[in-house]
Amino acid sequence: MSFQKDFLWGGATAANQYEGGWDEGGRGPAGPDIMTNGSRGASRLITLKLRDDLHYPNHIGSDFYHHHSEDIALMGEMGFKVFRMSISWSRIFPNGDDIIPNEEGLQFYDTIFDELKTQGIEPLVDLSHYEMPLNLTLKYDGWANRKCIDFFLRYCETVFYRFKDKVHYWLTFNEINVATMPIGNFMSLGILNPGTVEFYHQVDDVQKRFQAIHHQLVASARAVILGHSINPAFQIGCMNTMMSTYAATCDPKDVLQNQRYWQMTNFYCGDVQVRGEYPYFAQRFWKENQIDLNWREGDAEALRNGTVDFFSFSYYQTFCVTTHVPKDMVNANMTRGAANEYLKISQWGWPIDPDGLRYTMNELYGRYQIPLFVVENGLGAKDQVEADGSIHDPYRIEYLREHIRAMEEAVEDGVELMGYTPWGCIDLVSASSGEMEKRYGFVHVDCDNLGNGTFERRRKDSFHWYKRVIASNGEDLS
Ligand code: BG6
Repeated sequence: MSFQKDFLWGGATAANQYEGGWDEGGRGPAGPDIMTNGSRGASRLITLKLRDDLHYPNHIGSDFYHHHSEDIALMGEMGFKVFRMSISWSRIFPNGDDIIPNEEGLQFYDTIFDELKTQGIEPLVDLSHYEMPLNLTLKYDGWANRKCIDFFLRYCETVFYRFKDKVHYWLTFNEINVATMPIGNFMSLGILNPGTVEFYHQVDDVQKRFQAIHHQLVASARAVILGHSINPAFQIGCMNTMMSTYAATCDPKDVLQNQRYWQMTNFYCGDVQVRGEYPYFAQRFWKENQIDLNWREGDAEALRNGTVDFFSFSYYQTFCVTTHVPKDMVNANMTRGAANEYLKISQWGWPIDPDGLRYTMNELYGRYQIPLFVVENGLGAKDQVEADGSIHDPYRIEYLREHIRAMEEAVEDGVELMGYTPWGCIDLVSASSGEMEKRYGFVHVDCDNLGNGTFERRRKDSFHWYKRVIASNGEDLS
């Protein structure tokens, strides 16, 4: 048997895409609350004022806020060992800079963690998954402002103390490295530069963006130190998105460009979070881009002492990097790249590459030598509800089966793997397109792209399949 006995099988969600209840229970607005729905061809819009003629899908998400007992029971039925979720920061500190936390928000998560415990499910909690209180964007320019470190730590301290006996696995920032690309400005860093209207075409200030990443890295490290001081048994990980790529040709120029891509996109943040200092290649990047980071006393020490216990990551696809004009382009999580003729693509144009997961895991483990955790993976696809209410999703089962096989191979290769939480285990709003119909779940949620529907939950074929996978600890993939 490849997977360890206590392998953490489960599923993953994020408050902003799943929880809903955006203006209930004392919660303040967060960044994604001002993003409209988009589609594969049309970018989501970011509107400072809410418009009556537009739809803001994150307001209701999948309405977990009112369906949590039912959803957690379904997770229990599948045999989940772990549930990855995030706390909505603005449910705890509605404005981000408040002094006193919102008790009703804390009680909501008390209920969630208690319900998970009843089902024997461990929570794996993201402190920040693509959202921060909107007030911090409007008043402070998001993470560009160093003050956000202290606001974030006040929030961390509150939830670490409150949930110290209920939560043992924590993640600091979701896909922190997305901000190495301009698309990370708003969702990841809470920066809304003047002139930005479309999520896919954000006005960028590279100096500001990398300064904001520095603030997040310091905040992440200080959160790790703080968490360990509150409960030494806490396991605190980083979370990076693996934008795994191949050189499109064996032209050495392509190979070098691909190497540079891995360094600056995949490793820039992870190296700091695991090794405690910026990688050597950052120097040249800063110089060539006229980036002059502002360091304060204590930053270097925090980075050095706040290294993580494990490395978690998302993996969806691969694409190619080239210095030549590519024949075809494909979509990928938050970006685009050169097509790979050996790979099929999903309905949203993302290449499907299970071998790439094994390759990625070996790259990561070889570099960091700490346990890995695949906390996001999956296929966004349209589902058809049959007249009898059943949903047949063999495409999703095939995608997941091949990726589990790839993880198994990586474990055989010697990689240490803690667990697997496929993305959007219960259907939720897509981060990049804001659509509901880009579904990842084992459980269908009756809601369309405009928020119409009953929000009734239905088990898909993949639900029953995944239940068998978990029960057999990955042996039965049939
Ligand atoms: C990751 C994010 O980038 O990919 C999730 O952490 C996101 O928030 C997921 O939902 C899938 O991307 P999308 O755009 O299909 O929702």
